[in-house]
Amino acid sequence: MKPYKIVMTGSLYPQALAALEEQCEIKKWEGPGPIPREQLLDWLQDADGLVSTGNVKVDGELLAAAPQLRVIAQSSVGYDNVDIQACTAKGVPFGNTPGVLVETVADLTYALLLAAARRIHDGWEMVKSGRWTPGAAVPFGVDPYGKTLGIVGMGDIGSAVARRAQASGMNVIYHNRSRREDDQALGTRYVQFDELLAESDFIVVLVPLSASSKGMFDRDQFAKMKPSAYFINASRGSIVNTEALYEALRTGGIAYAALDVTDPEPLPVDHPLIALPNVLITPHVGSATHETRGRMSDLTAANLLAGLAGKPMPACVNS
Ligand code: DGY
Repeated sequence: MKPYKIVMTGSLYPQALAALEEQCEIKKWEGPGPIPREQLLDWLQDADGLVSTGNVKVDGELLAAAPQLRVIAQSSVGYDNVDIQACTAKGVPFGNTPGVLVETVADLTYALLLAAARRIHDGWEMVKSGRWTPGAAVPFGVDPYGKTLGIVGMGDIGSAVARRAQASGMNVIYHNRSRREDDQALGTRYVQFDELLAESDFIVVLVPLSASSKGMFDRDQFAKMKPSAYFINASRGSIVNTEALYEALRTGGIAYAALDVTDPEPLPVDHPLIALPNVLITPHVGSATHETRGRMSDLTAANLLAGLAGKPMPACVNS
């Protein structure tokens, strides 16, 4: 007889799952698609722990349906699907996975910037479709070298992107709610939001989704950018008004967007954004490498097991 009962709304890497299986009876949703709400609430009736996923709303209703719940852990750094106040009010610690995905998300973010600047996927399409014939016009891009990168949300991932950009010879400015004390050491310059919009050749969004960042890129913000601006979002889709982004791209308000996140997500294949020639979209894969997802899984299992045992979690948002 195992001491704990847990519910998992998605999977973890095998070694983390094995660590949980040693101590827990597990009800695990295998899909397809997200777990139906009723199924989840039913499973939670006698659960001690929950391993949640970003596609599940963790709110007062869910917590009320889970009278024995002692801990929630999620394999992501972002937790905009979770009502942290409600968890705290119920005395339920919530663990996430900061730190372990920083370099991986920074790689993907910078890869999107480079792929957009150099039109990598246009080139590949040309090769695949047989349009690469002698003398054919090949896709031309722009140089990041010597240009200004504006980072909105200069946390750990932002500063890892800044390092990559500086290695490419870019000048890096950033905007946060407050100026970082280490910006001299980072070689970056703090600017006001509007200044960043006006000065940047490339804009990278890494700010977490919250009530204040939802929709922060709307018509007004795109209107303040250079018509030659490249817009890269690797944070959360709803930080951007998708309609406003679409219009800015369609009308030449900005030059190009490279997105790892969209609103809605997944983006339906017939969405007008996808038909534009100046967009590159990846399916929310910022942290999707085997090594990093393994580390995120391990940290999620460690958070859950610590919470179940009533011990401090390695990474707790509301301790
Ligand atoms: C995160 O960890 O928040 C990434 O977006 C992956 O979900």
